[in-house]
Amino acid sequence: MTSDHPCPAVDLFAPEFLHDPYPVYATLRETGPVHHDPGTGLWLVSTHRDVRRVLLDPELYRPDNALDAVVPLSVPALRCLAAAGFTLPPTLANNGTDTHAGLRRIVTGMLRRDRVTAAVPLVHELMAPRLDRIEKELADRGSCDLVVTLTRDLPFEVMLRVLGLAGDVDVDIDLLARWNDASLELFWGAPPRERQLPLARLAAEFHQWLDGLTERAVPGGTGLLARLAAHRKPDGTPLSRREIVAVCYFMVIAGQTTTGQMLATMLLRALSDPGLWPRLGREPALAAAWAEEMLRREPPLTTWRRVTARPTRLGGVELPQGAKLLLMLAATGSDPAVFEAPELLRPNRPHGREHLSFGLGRHRCPGAALARMEAETVLRAVSARLPDLRLADPGSTVPMRGLLSFRAPPAVPVRRAATVSRGGSP
Ligand code: HEM
Repeated sequence: MTSDHPCPAVDLFAPEFLHDPYPVYATLRETGPVHHDPGTGLWLVSTHRDVRRVLLDPELYRPDNALDAVVPLSVPALRCLAAAGFTLPPTLANNGTDTHAGLRRIVTGMLRRDRVTAAVPLVHELMAPRLDRIEKELADRGSCDLVVTLTRDLPFEVMLRVLGLAGDVDVDIDLLARWNDASLELFWGAPPRERQLPLARLAAEFHQWLDGLTERAVPGGTGLLARLAAHRKPDGTPLSRREIVAVCYFMVIAGQTTTGQMLATMLLRALSDPGLWPRLGREPALAAAWAEEMLRREPPLTTWRRVTARPTRLGGVELPQGAKLLLMLAATGSDPAVFEAPELLRPNRPHGREHLSFGLGRHRCPGAALARMEAETVLRAVSARLPDLRLADPGSTVPMRGLLSFRAPPAVPVRRAATVSRGGSP
């Protein structure tokens, strides 16, 4: 199966691509907007028009493969997952069946705009001790990492409270982060075979922990678990335990990882521009508008998948039934057909919110308002408290951690401006 475009090969996992994917995005859009990648077997769809079209037609372009492993897993890894009862039945993002609408209603109800607005004081409250810790580490050691101190666990804590799960979850955040990272690498990375079994063990532990949590899923409360327990599918039956686990598994990944990565990338870029950084805390409307531009230009979720239900034609290319598509969300946010001078971050640009970084249509991200609120609140609060914060090593290139769908800096080391200008070590 080949596409008839003269498009050069793309290595989706190459460090150069992770560091600067924009030239590749441009080449794809111009020479092969629907391009077959032999490395992954995926059809890369890169223009805003084509991706929008796919997202708006979930009957033809189904979401069934959204959570599939990108590379075939080894037999020991599969055995380990099977022994732990690990399955991800269709629930939310990977659900093209008639059970999707009801499950989605539960989640959208809990993430409504009014609930998100009501959660702003909560984010401030959760940030206060973290900002104290950042300031203390900066004073004691001269530097600190904003991923460890802030972005890795703040979205998780916020999500637990917004979804009414805080009383049910008692897990060490470091362990949860390890489980999360292992799941992402196993399903969205290209781990060599010898690495798959250890990753599968961690993903299986994560799944088993969630399975234990579902013991608490009894009807009667207002939290997510109670709502899932009370839910009835269109055929009148309750959700199975595995379906409840699958919802929780996806919610943790969707709610924590994406938002944490978004915050890390935004802080890295904002701190790279000393002229911008102090203004984010001073000018009330700037943080939200600038964050929106970052979501367009450099989203944390760079791609998402779909599969064709029947043969079709997209972007001038014939696709067979079962063609696995990789929607290049990050490429669409820099499509000059929609965004003039896309490389420039221009807060409040025309059509600025027409990016596809939260998807579109039936599966559009129900967490978008929460993610936007967290971005604005965090940028404003950190900048207001620490206007003299700077990247610890402004001249160096921060490597991006990259998987098929996720891209963000693994660390954002910072210092105060005076420490940088002195040039001394802590
Ligand atoms: C910057 C942060 C985030 C980004 C970039 C993001 C992006 C996305 C994308 C691209 C999709 C797939 C949309 C589609 O298939 O059309 C999605 C789905 C989803 N997201 Fe998010 N997301 C973020 C944060 C969140 C948060 C904070 C939550 C919940 C607390 C969340 C919950 C979900 C759920 C439940 C779905 C599946 C919806 C469905 O299939 O009906 N996301 N997200």
